[in-house]
Amino acid sequence: MKTIGRVALCVLALGVAGYATLAYALLPLGALVHPGMRLTFHAHPVGIYTHVFASSLALLTGPLQFSSRFRQRHRRVHRWLGRVYLGVGVALGGLSGLYMATLAFGGLTAKFGFAGLASIWLYTGLRAFRAIREGDVAAHRKWVVRNFALTFAAVTLRIYLPLSIASGIPFETCYSVIAWLCWIPNLLVAEALFNRRSGRSQM
Ligand code: HEM
Repeated sequence: MKTIGRVALCVLALGVAGYATLAYALLPLGALVHPGMRLTFHAHPVGIYTHVFASSLALLTGPLQFSSRFRQRHRRVHRWLGRVYLGVGVALGGLSGLYMATLAFGGLTAKFGFAGLASIWLYTGLRAFRAIREGDVAAHRKWVVRNFALTFAAVTLRIYLPLSIASGIPFETCYSVIAWLCWIPNLLVAEALFNRRSGRSQM
């Protein structure tokens, strides 16, 4: 069951990263999004391209970092991939995500939702980096799990979007709710996993 969950997580993360990279490298800018979003993307191409490519790198590199077998066998690669994940994926993807959040479709609710996600993404990334520099492996593990739960918002958002369109509720309304829904439950799941583990280790 645990293995099925891990495989599903990897397939979804790699699938969304692959879709985003190919769609934004090969198709005209904003070809697959709402016309309102397309206008913003055309006015801020550097912001959206930086965001999509850097964040996709985080989604691509993140899953492998959680494999303990990989970490034990390839410590140096784990360190380098971690630098790419945090230094390029999260830092660049988060800063450009914060910039795009100020322009997001769906009004103030969506803008605050995405800005909250970007800020906590950057914060948890910084805490993960500082923890490992201080040699605190247990804290590093907790902060990277929280951080990847937020990276995974890119996947959950793309699961909720088609469901919301199918529901018939106007896109503007759904989008502003999804700007929050795509990341808060992910963080709660990460915290629940920590609690379950610490409960088990106390038994
Ligand atoms: C976790 C922090 C993230 C934040 C705060 C964030 C924020 C945003 C914002 C504000 C937009 C513009 C939406 C609009 O104009 O209404 C956007 C679009 C986009 N983001 Fe992110 N994002 C994050 C993570 C990611 C990740 C990890 C990916 C990796 C695939 C990603 C891929 C995209 C893509 C492809 C778009 C363009 C819209 C689309 O084609 O679906 N984002 N993001």
